[in-house]
Amino acid sequence: MNEIFTIQNSILEISYLGASLLFILGLKKLSHPLTARAGNLWAAAGMTAAIVFTILFHQMDGKGIGNIPWILAALAIGSFIGWYASVKVKMTAMPQMVSIFNGMGGACAALISLMEFPHLQDELAAAGHTHMLTGPAIAILLGLMIGSVSFAGSMIAFLKLDGRLGDIKTPALRIVNLSFLVVLLVALVVIMYMHPVSGNNWPIYLFALAALIYGVTFVMPIGGADMPVVISLLNSFTGVAAAMGGFLYNNQAMLTGGILVGSAGTILTILMTRAMNRSLLNVIIGAFGVASGSGSESEDQTVKEISLSDAAVLLSYSQKVYIVPGYGLAVAQAQHLCHDLDNLLTDKGVEVKYAIHPVAGRMPGHMNVLLAEADVPYEKLVEMEDANNEMSNTDVVIVIGANDVVNPAAEEDPSSPIYGMPIIRAQDARNVIVMKRSMAAGYAAIPNNLFYHPKNRMLFGDAKATLQKLVAEIKSL
Ligand code: TAP
Repeated sequence: MNEIFTIQNSILEISYLGASLLFILGLKKLSHPLTARAGNLWAAAGMTAAIVFTILFHQMDGKGIGNIPWILAALAIGSFIGWYASVKVKMTAMPQMVSIFNGMGGACAALISLMEFPHLQDELAAAGHTHMLTGPAIAILLGLMIGSVSFAGSMIAFLKLDGRLGDIKTPALRIVNLSFLVVLLVALVVIMYMHPVSGNNWPIYLFALAALIYGVTFVMPIGGADMPVVISLLNSFTGVAAAMGGFLYNNQAMLTGGILVGSAGTILTILMTRAMNRSLLNVIIGAFGVASGSGSESEDQTVKEISLSDAAVLLSYSQKVYIVPGYGLAVAQAQHLCHDLDNLLTDKGVEVKYAIHPVAGRMPGHMNVLLAEADVPYEKLVEMEDANNEMSNTDVVIVIGANDVVNPAAEEDPSSPIYGMPIIRAQDARNVIVMKRSMAAGYAAIPNNLFYHPKNRMLFGDAKATLQKLVAEIKSL
């Protein structure tokens, strides 16, 4: 009987449909912080179901899947590494972990292609084909190319994010890159028209090697701090590579999963670049943070400081306070103290809210995750546009470890690299307190005129230590 109509196969198909539904519902739930944890579990349940049902019901030529001990051992080792890494990783190192995990996805897709190419060669050679130009060959080659680029690129991104590798920003690399891309695409077409000869695998190995090198040279010129955008882009590549596997095996769960990852990664990349007012091309050619030095900081500007006691009084006697969290809050791991400050002020009758910039921190939703970790109620987090509308009737804005996301140069200085990026307009409030360790620049490596604004006073120090003292000071009032 045709394999398509066996009971086992029907169960398998239905399980893949169920898994796909779980992926979609999981992704939907991931879009809101309150349901994100459940969303993750739903999607994981979908993946587990797809794996378990494949092991139990997959049939090929009337035989089961085979190699069960190997599969179970790989599952156990992989699950342990994944669990251990996610338990151990620090919040600030999350982009590195995502990068490695993403690279593994790309490597899997590439390995599938490497394994399936010889099989396809054999089949086509046996059937007397004179070329490889078939649907499966296209899926194999695209899966191999995109998966390899994603793997190699993600590893470079990991090394850069971890500070183990610098940027190579030579224009020559861009030419090398473009040439490699052209070579890869030409090679892809050449392999398609190759005569399928059993056992002749060197073209595919060379093709994989070229794709790996391209992955390295593609990411090398990109600024280290631009890596989250690149990881999101590479993530979408991995999704597309996995979807190729889905085409190849006619596996709906793999196809849906790959398409979801591919499209979600693409949308996220676009949203991130928009929120940073950058074009994707600008990110890829590494134009940001290249010692542009733009910014209109002048020598004679003076910076006013505020003492802890003055800050405590100002905050305690305000009616409305906005906290603007940024990357430094995550670095200092001061989110719990930040919530303590919020609670203390709220108990005194102050209305406290958090203004959340879409690219504050170093990864999408960084501030939401950080504050959720400290149990800050989600209703207190206000999106940038809404917060800006409330700034003029806010008594104090306290900026904790944020810099670029409150830099007025984005609105005032057309020569600034961040010009056009939407910002939180802290300077519209009656008073501003900026809490950071020094006058150092943030991610965009440019000065910030907010620090010299007449309404602003600096509260220098590590965010955790300063918040600790500020909380104690407010308690003693
Ligand atoms: P940044 O502009 O990077 O500024 C963070 C500030 O935190 C620094 O100026 C630093 O000043 C301060 N800081 C560091 N450690 C601190 C500590 N322990 N205590 C107190 N302050 C500390 O951060 P932001 O305002 O959140 O902006 C994010 C930037 O990253 C944007 O330019 C954005 O485009 C970019 N970016 C974001 C993403 C995503 S998706 N979120 C992805 C890629 C890039 P001191 O050294 O003086 O303390």
